[in-house]
Amino acid sequence: MFSWVQFTLFPHFASERELGGLAASQRGNTRMCRERKLLIETGIIEAAAEGPKMKVVIILPTYNERGNIVALLASLQNEFQRLRHDMHILVVDDNSPDGTAELVRETMCRYPNVHLITGEKAGLGAAYIRGMQHAIGELRADVVFEMDADFSHDPADVPRLLGALEESADFVIGSRHVKGGSIPEEWSTWRKWNSAGGNWVARYVAGLYGIRDCTAGFRAIRASILRQIDFSALRVKGYAFQVALLHQAVSLGAVVKEVPVHFIDRKHGHSKLGLNDIIEFIINAWWIRMRASRTFIRFAVVGASGTVVNLGVFSAALHANLNKYIASPLAIEVSIVWNFLLNNYWTFKERRTRDRTRIKGLKFNLVSLVSLGVSFATFIALTLFLPRVPVQIDQLAGIVPATLVNYFLNSYWTFRAHPEPETDAAESLLPQEPSRVNRSV
Ligand code: GDD
Ligand code: MN
Repeated sequence: MFSWVQFTLFPHFASERELGGLAASQRGNTRMCRERKLLIETGIIEAAAEGPKMKVVIILPTYNERGNIVALLASLQNEFQRLRHDMHILVVDDNSPDGTAELVRETMCRYPNVHLITGEKAGLGAAYIRGMQHAIGELRADVVFEMDADFSHDPADVPRLLGALEESADFVIGSRHVKGGSIPEEWSTWRKWNSAGGNWVARYVAGLYGIRDCTAGFRAIRASILRQIDFSALRVKGYAFQVALLHQAVSLGAVVKEVPVHFIDRKHGHSKLGLNDIIEFIINAWWIRMRASRTFIRFAVVGASGTVVNLGVFSAALHANLNKYIASPLAIEVSIVWNFLLNNYWTFKERRTRDRTRIKGLKFNLVSLVSLGVSFATFIALTLFLPRVPVQIDQLAGIVPATLVNYFLNSYWTFRAHPEPETDAAESLLPQEPSRVNRSV
C-alpha cells in the first residue's frame, strides 16, 4: 500500500536519480519496465491503480520560454508513460515575443494532449486564472497542476505530487521548505531573502500558519476545489496569485499536503518576478488578513484611536512649550498604554492565553519599549533627513512601523493563544487544525 510516510520519512526515496531524475528522453523501455516494477514493489502504482482514472491538466504559463518549452514538453510526455491517468498539458502563453507559442504549435501535431491558449501579457496570476478556467471549463479536468515552464520543477516529481493527491489530499504543494526539499544553493542572497520573506508574510500576515511553502508554483489541485473559487474575487494579477489561491482553497476546507521538492535554478531565460509583483504580494497578504481576521480589524480600530491620542498628546505637549524630542516619546508612550489597555480588554479578549495578567502586563511593557524605540527612531530619522517636513507628519509616520511591530509581538507573544484556543469565527477559517494541514513533513 502506498504510504505517505514513505515520502515523509524517506524524502530521498522519490528524488533519487534512479527513480525520476534521469533525463526522460534517455530512458529506454527496459528501464521504464524496471522503474515500473520498482514502483509496484514499493506500492506506489498499486495504490494509484485502485482509484478512478482522472483527467489531469498540467498548466505551463510561459513568457519567453523558447529555450525550455520543447524539451520540457518532451520530458513531461515521457513521465506520462508511467501514469495511468489521462494526462494533458495546457500552455498559457502571453504572446511571448520570442515565439514560444510557435514552438508549442509545432509540437502539437506530435502530441494530441498538448493544448495552447494565448493572450495579452497581464502577469503570472492572470495567466493562471485564464488557464485554470480553460482547464476546468473546456478541458473538463479532474486535477489541475501548476508548474513553471523553465525546468525549475522537475517533471519526474509529477507522479509523486499526483500520488499524494490520490492518497488523501485536495491541494498538494511541491514544497521547498519541508524536510527533503530545497532552494538552489547558487541563488543570490536577495533571491533567498525574497523567498523566505514571501513565505513569512504569507504565513504570518495572510495567516497560512501551518503551511511551509505558501508561494510555491508547483502544485496539484483538485478541480472540485477550483470550481468553487470565484477567480474574479481574487483581485491579483502577479505572483500574489499563489497565496490568494492557496488561502481560498484553505478557506474552502481543502486538505493541503506538502511534498518535498528540489527547486532547480533555470538554465535558459530569466525570472519575470518584478517589483510590482512584490508590492502586490504584500498588499494582497494584508488584504487577506484584514478580510479574514476580526482580531486584526479590532487591532486596527484600536490603532486608529491610538493615533488620535498620540497626536493629541503631542500637540498639547508642544502647546505647553515642551521640547519636541521629549514631546514625541511622551505622546508615543501614552498612546501605547492606551492601545495596550484596549487590546487587552477588547481585541484579544476571547483569546485563551497561558500567561497571567501580571506576566502579560510585563510583556506589554517590554513590547511598548520596542514599539517606542521603533517609532522614535523613525521620528528622529525623518526630522534629520527631511527637516522641512512638519514634525506632526514625522510623528505620524513613526506610528506605522510601530503599529506593525506592536501587533506581531503582542499577537504572537503577549497574547499568544493556548494550544487549544477558543478561536474566533473568522480566524477558524484558517488552517489551525492539524488534521486539515499536513504539518508532519
Ligand atoms: N503567461 C505568462 N504570463 N507566463 C508568465 C508570466 C506572465 O506574465 N510571468 C511569468 N510567467 C511564466 C514563466 O515563463 C515561467 O514559466 C513561470 O511563469 C514562472 O516564472 P518565473 O519568472 O520563472 O518565476 P520565478 O522562478 O521567479 O518564480 C518561481 O518561484 C516563485 C516562488 O518563489 C515560480 O514557481 C513562482 O510561481 C513562485 O511563486
Ligand atoms: Mn523560474
